[in-house]
Amino acid sequence: DEGRQLVIAVDGPSGSGKSTISRRVAQAIDARYLDTGAMYRAVTYAVLRDNVDLGDAVKIAAVAESVELTIGTDPATPHISVDGIGVDREIRGAEVTSAVSAVSAVPAVRRLLVDRQRAIIAESERIVVEGRDIGTVVAPDADLKVYLTADAEERARRRSSENAASQAATAADLARRDRLDSTRAADPLRQADDAVVLDTTELGIDEVVERLRQMLDKVMA
Ligand code: DC
Repeated sequence: DEGRQLVIAVDGPSGSGKSTISRRVAQAIDARYLDTGAMYRAVTYAVLRDNVDLGDAVKIAAVAESVELTIGTDPATPHISVDGIGVDREIRGAEVTSAVSAVSAVPAVRRLLVDRQRAIIAESERIVVEGRDIGTVVAPDADLKVYLTADAEERARRRSSENAASQAATAADLARRDRLDSTRAADPLRQADDAVVLDTTELGIDEVVERLRQMLDKVMA
């Protein structure tokens, strides 16, 4: 019904289909879309740009604090900029990808970005938010929480079809990031107790989108 806010949290590891599915669902229900991973990637881009040591949490936090992040929430045209410069392509590169787990493990970075994410959610009537800690930390009161998974091999296959790296290199990098993202002290990747778990290994995109829409129909009824 009109006036009631709708928040959908989509969490899961890399290559589980989160981004594609979240964007498609947002477009289907005319909702905003927030890619929180892009925010951690954009801060990482700034950290690398400023030649900050990845072991220096204090300097990393200072970069996160001073950087001007602008993120769009239109699911049709995702856009993020750092200090006024669009970095949509740069944040998907190998350098950012291999450094992002270190940057996103810094508690001060998470506090800052989680606050930004909550503010964006608060001003949206309907929004699909994807990440690692959305159902557990960012939006624990979300109307629907989905946790997407897929076999490690299938996730590596999906990721290596998106970039130039070999499947073996991608698999190794995914395993490393999964381990870092799930074992870090601050807000690790974790299933919320009330999340619906969906294994997408053998499901096509359309099938997953359809299942989420069915779940949403129930939530909104
Ligand atoms: O979803 P992605 O691959 O773009 O995310 C990039 C990294 O950011 C991922 O390795 C972990 C981190 N991340 C996070 O810590 N918390 C989030 N809510 C989203 C992403």
